[in-house]
Amino acid sequence: MCGIIGYVGRESVVPILLAGLQRLEYRGYDSAGIAIQHHGCLEIRRSEGKLSNLEAVLNNGDFVEGRTGIGHTRWATHGRPSEQNAHPHRSGDLVLVHNGIIENFLVLRHRLESEGYRFESETDTEVIAHLLSSAVKRGGRLDEAVRQVAHDLHGSYAIAVMSLTEPGRIVVSRSGCPLVIGLNGTGAFLASDVTPLLAHTREVVYLEDGDIGILEESEIHILDSDGQSKTIPAETIHWDAEAAEKGGYPNFMMKEIHEQPQVIMDTLRGRFDYETGEADLPDLSMTKEELLSAKRFWIVACGTSWHAGLVGKYLFEEMVRRPIQVDIGSEFRYREPMIQQGDVFIAISQSGETADTLAAAREAKRRGARVLAIVNAVGSTLAREADGVIYTRCGPEISVASTKAFTGQVIALYLLVLHVGRVNDVLSAEEGRWWLDHFLMLPGHVEHILKQESAIESIANQYAHMNNFLYLGRGINYPIALEGALKLKEISYIHAEGYAAGEMKHGPIALIDKEMPVVVLSPKDRLYEKSVSNLMEVRARSAPVIAFVSEGDHALDKVADHVFAIPDVHPLLTPILFTVGLQLLAYHIAIQRGLDVDRPRNLAKSVTVE
Ligand code: G6P
Repeated sequence: MCGIIGYVGRESVVPILLAGLQRLEYRGYDSAGIAIQHHGCLEIRRSEGKLSNLEAVLNNGDFVEGRTGIGHTRWATHGRPSEQNAHPHRSGDLVLVHNGIIENFLVLRHRLESEGYRFESETDTEVIAHLLSSAVKRGGRLDEAVRQVAHDLHGSYAIAVMSLTEPGRIVVSRSGCPLVIGLNGTGAFLASDVTPLLAHTREVVYLEDGDIGILEESEIHILDSDGQSKTIPAETIHWDAEAAEKGGYPNFMMKEIHEQPQVIMDTLRGRFDYETGEADLPDLSMTKEELLSAKRFWIVACGTSWHAGLVGKYLFEEMVRRPIQVDIGSEFRYREPMIQQGDVFIAISQSGETADTLAAAREAKRRGARVLAIVNAVGSTLAREADGVIYTRCGPEISVASTKAFTGQVIALYLLVLHVGRVNDVLSAEEGRWWLDHFLMLPGHVEHILKQESAIESIANQYAHMNNFLYLGRGINYPIALEGALKLKEISYIHAEGYAAGEMKHGPIALIDKEMPVVVLSPKDRLYEKSVSNLMEVRARSAPVIAFVSEGDHALDKVADHVFAIPDVHPLLTPILFTVGLQLLAYHIAIQRGLDVDRPRNLAKSVTVE
């Protein structure tokens, strides 16, 4: 998730771009850049790190003037954060900013290299710049070039491009990524969302997939993907800038919960070959032989990432029958783990900066293990130190309590396990395709749950005054019971315990009474009857029961106080769906208690100390 901005008009463009980028920094902040057209020249300024670094470059006597320009604030997906990888990217006379992921960029890059194009960055974006430049050289107008190149691009994008051959004009297009345009008395604006536009206009147009917008000082012309003119009615925005940053949601946590269908797609995007039923993970940097010879897999992480790791354990054991051990970072680093040369050590972290996870990964490396990172922040310490990486492509997670990052991590684990299974031949091509089909259905299932938010909200409102909660799950949903309880305690300050349902009778059962709601995860899997028995034990002790079940299961309707159904999917795919339900439950309980869900007391987003 990156932020893009652009302006063409009568005002000086640099202050408009910088103010816009400031408003977009929540979409990415690892590097930033602008490009300005001025007197037949393209001036590009870029810098690594926060926007303030770019501002320093511009204030340092390097100020550029002009009235047409584009800008970008980056959250890296391809290529580490660096000045070279920062946007805008130039090819010949044109320059481009991009938000999104081009799945087939490697194929396109090889093709362009064979045609003589030289690449200066590691990004997928530069491919688009060269493709457009090549199309323009063949005599096309910029908007026509954009339309042609769109056929070559697989993936998602919102782009803004300008060329010296067409001064005073910016061409934009989108597919799968948002893009908003607007006009006021001074000129035309574009941005990835309305946030930066609100200072200039409240009348905006949301482009649709495949649309091309041609922006000039006093007019905006929109074409559809066939090149035909079209009109999209403008919408009036009533939000203030802060609400706009949150996409109209009341806080970042809710926004991030709702981003999960997109996160699933982005994390899967371009990472599988449907024909062969394989996961394609080039950044893993591990040969088939290295994977096959690994005696043992390890997963180490902290907090919510550790819960994703625990889900991974069940996936490795059930899907590919490989031995795996899961540890908490702070425990692993001070034990004498029996890790061996050639073992595969998987560190999971949203930030890539968690001190205990990093220390554990270094220890594993010292002992000869191959370190793989499942990480969200490209260029983070963990990503740089690991031998191989799977990025979760969630975009910045701003709310302290982790939601979408967890989902991205579990999806990355599905891909990794599929990869190991296919390499080992434990999974056939047909089985691989079956899993891919079902991974690809997950965004729709999550949407389905999000649509039923009000049902969970009403349950939350009934129990928000309670002081203790118990969460029970079995098998692959035992970690989800832990995650549900963690989410609740993090943001509502209610004491909550997650337990393996079968372990309840060895202690927590003593606590159960009518003042302790019990959340039971009870999918239709081979442990279903056992989960139901646990539920009955809870019920017999008068605890209010909130059952999360599979769609179509009505057996618990009369037994539990509340039943919430998730789509009926393969048991190994239930964790993400239950988690989304439990995130909503925790969220609405916290909101009902009047708490600040984005900034819970005493917690930090990134724990860089021991
Ligand atoms: C902190 C955060 C959690 C997160 C954990 C691990 O405790 O508040 O939300 O799960 O760190 O962070 P990581 O960045 O390594 O995933």
